[in-house]
Parts: sequence; structure tokens; C-alpha cells
Amino acid sequence: MAGDDQVLLAERRGPALVLTFNRPDKRNAISSAMLAQLDRRLGEAEADPGVRAVVLTGAGPKAFVAGADIAEYAAQDHPAFVAYQAESRRLFSWLDAFPKPVIGAVNGYALGGGFELCLCCDLLVASTSARFGLPEGLLGLSPGGGGTQRLTRAAGPFVAADVLLAGRRLSAEDAARLGLVAEVVEPGRLLDAALERAERVARVAPLAVKAMLGLVRTAMEAPLEEGLAAEQAVLAGLHQTDDAAEGIAAFLEKREPRFTGR
Ligand code: COA
Repeated sequence: MAGDDQVLLAERRGPALVLTFNRPDKRNAISSAMLAQLDRRLGEAEADPGVRAVVLTGAGPKAFVAGADIAEYAAQDHPAFVAYQAESRRLFSWLDAFPKPVIGAVNGYALGGGFELCLCCDLLVASTSARFGLPEGLLGLSPGGGGTQRLTRAAGPFVAADVLLAGRRLSAEDAARLGLVAEVVEPGRLLDAALERAERVARVAPLAVKAMLGLVRTAMEAPLEEGLAAEQAVLAGLHQTDDAAEGIAAFLEKREPRFTGR
């Protein structure tokens, strides 16, 4: 079995930190050790100004993440199960509100917690082999990583009911049609497609990226007038930054801007 630090591989690729769920023989099922590593790596990514985006993907050709580790569930007593769910909720909410873009590169089965991880990303690219589903009901359970709430918000209640109750597995094309997935590519192109998007994000002023991520989240939760007020406040704040002066000057001087994040 992979050592604890091997269950989630971390590699810098240009401006992106690529985190790879690495238990391919178990379809990258999420173990407690994996959650602990995700916690650690997200902390590092948040603190490092050189990391402009996080890419999440799965090892091997078959799965992104096939959900929580059901064998671990079987070994947990009730208090341990409840504690595990609370920890995964904390971590998934952090990922959802992460101040840098999180790009999911979905390379196969994204089931249960795997789909829920995707729903916490800001942007998804998928290989043609991606399959999204929430099969927890077949275990007599229900999702605990936000699946019922975030899928319903992202795709609407009818899609959510089909996935949760009728066991529908969304193909990559289905997910693209529903607006969940930005791009579907052949499996061999997946990581490059995710990294290309990370490169594009890295061209945008860092404070603007962080602010716009927050505003997209606000749009999902706040009444329109409140969201519009937040948008104006954010823009007024950005207008006073060095990066706004630099971005405008660079455009007029027909050169690339050099942003400093101030
Ligand atoms: N937890 C623990 N182990 C898992 C797992 C999970 N969520 N998903 C897959 N595995 C393990 C299998 O037990 C098997 O282990 P083994 O080789 O020691 O027997 C191995 O991964 C390969 O799985 P297998 O089912 O043979 O692969 P497959 O390619 O035919 O099917 C899936 C892949 C993902 C469709 C299937 O494994 C599956 O349905 N997994 C459970 C999905 C689920 O219910 N997720 C929600 C959990 S709350």
C-alpha cells in the first residue's frame, strides 16, 4: 500500500500545483490519509504566492476518485464515521471557497466524494472517459460532501434527482452540456488542457482573480442587489491597486503587464 505521503502526489507545473489522488488500484478512493494530505497541500498552495492555480486529478486511466473508501467506512464505528464526515465537510468547504482557482482534470470515474470534489472546483476539464455519479443511496447512505446541495445548485433539481435517485451517471458530454464541464478532451490531452487553463489564469492580475472567485460565490448565495453592491465595492477596491494602474498602462503601451499582486 502507498505510504501516507504517496496517496496524494504534489507537483509544480508552471504556475499550477498539480495534486494527484494516487491509489489507482482502489480507483483513488478517498482515505483519511488522503484527506490529511489534501489538507496539508492546500495549506501550502494557499501560502505560496507562486502557486496561481491548483489542479486536481487522479492517477491511472480509470478513475478520478471513486468516492470515500468504503472499506474504511466498514471499519469505523458511528462516532468515527460522524467525525470523518465533519472533517471532509470542513475540507470540501475550504476547497470550494479556496482563494485561488481550483481546476478539476477528471480522468475517469468521479463518483460519490469524487463528484463532490469536482463540484467544489471552479472549473472542470474532463477526458472522454469521465463518468460522474452519486451512488451513495445504493449503500443505504446519502452524500456527505455537499453532493445534494452543490449538484442541485450547479445543475438544477431535476438533474440532481436523476443522479441521486435514478442512479444516472453523467458522461463527460452530458456534464459539458449541463455546463459543469468547460472542455472535453481525449485522455492523453487532459492534463495539458488543465495546465493551459492554469496558464491563462496566471495572466490575470492575482487580486482580480481572488476577488472574482469571491464574487462568483456571492452570486450563488446572495440576492441580486447585494451581489451587485459587492461587485461595485470589489471593482472600486481593485481600481486603487498598483496592478490596475499597470494593467491599463500596459494595454495603452501595447506590452504585457507585469503584475505584482499589490
Ligand atoms: N472504496 C473502497 N474501495 C473501492 C472503491 C471505494 N469507493 N471503489 C473501488 N474500490 C476498489 C474495489 O473494492 C476494488 O478493490 P479490490 O481490487 O481489492 O477488490 C478496486 O477498487 C477496483 O474496483 P472494481 O470495482 O473492480 O473496478 P471497476 O473498474 O470494475 O469499477 C467503480 C470501478 C468505481 C465503478 C466501482 O469500483 C464502484 O462502483 N466503486 C464504488 C463507488 C461508490 O459507491 N462510491 C461512493 C462511496 S460513498
